[in-house]
Amino acid sequence: MYSEVFCKVYNEFGWNYYPEIFGELLLTWLKRNNVTPKTAMDLACGTGILCRILRAAGMEAAGMDLSDGMIAIAWENDPQGQYTVADMTTFRPADAYDLVTCTGDAVNHIPELGDVRRIFENVYSYLAPGGYFVFDLLNEKEVSDSEPFEMDFTETTRVWFQMTRPGQNRVHLTVRVYESGVLALEEVIRETIHDPGEICRMLQQCGFRVIRCADCLLEDSGHGTTWFIVARKEHSNE
Ligand SMILES: C[S@@+](CC[C@H](N)C(=O)[O-])C[C@H]1O[C@@H](n2cnc3c(N)ncnc32)[C@H](O)[C@@H]1O
Repeated sequence: MYSEVFCKVYNEFGWNYYPEIFGELLLTWLKRNNVTPKTAMDLACGTGILCRILRAAGMEAAGMDLSDGMIAIAWENDPQGQYTVADMTTFRPADAYDLVTCTGDAVNHIPELGDVRRIFENVYSYLAPGGYFVFDLLNEKEVSDSEPFEMDFTETTRVWFQMTRPGQNRVHLTVRVYESGVLALEEVIRETIHDPGEICRMLQQCGFRVIRCADCLLEDSGHGTTWFIVARKEHSNE
């Protein structure tokens, strides 16, 4: 998944708008709630945009992603950053972080709930007491079969996309890249819709307090196409 070519399309097609919007909302949420993290880890960081935003806001931010292609682009977008190729279902860094994020429906890339639970257990282990885990989830109501969409990516490269729902909880994004009219790549990004209620119960079972699970991060920001979840690791005396 996330081949080198697809990562380039992701970076240049304009998908970076999502971590940009998420970053803005998150910084406002932190400010309004008097939360001042010093260190942050962005899981499934993709092209490094959110890390760059968090660093610009004064945090020491690091990112990790399963895809070599995404991490290579993250280094290009954010040469001062710290990036690692790893799998978030097994990732347990030695350092503790005040804030852990995971955006762009990255959790929906994990089909098995057992693996989602493993991610939560891992995050709980390296989140500092009092720290926050903020992530998003696809909102089932916002995902439907779409008409195919095509665009010229460069003079010789044409890109084709289509979102489909092959089964009740499944979402496929098919991407085809044509070079001078010849199909050069077809990639299917497979996602699974998880029930936000079940995800919140799982967070609680892993020790978190769920602070927010809503289709907007800020009451006055308008509703998004995803669920926003904020979970906190309480101090042991709370
Ligand atoms: C839709 S992209 C989102 C990237 C970025 N967070 C953003 O908001 O733009 C999903 C990302 O999840 C990553 N990913 C999928 N499974 C992963 C795993 N098990 N561990 C770490 N990263 C993973 C992919 O490589 C991809 O970069």
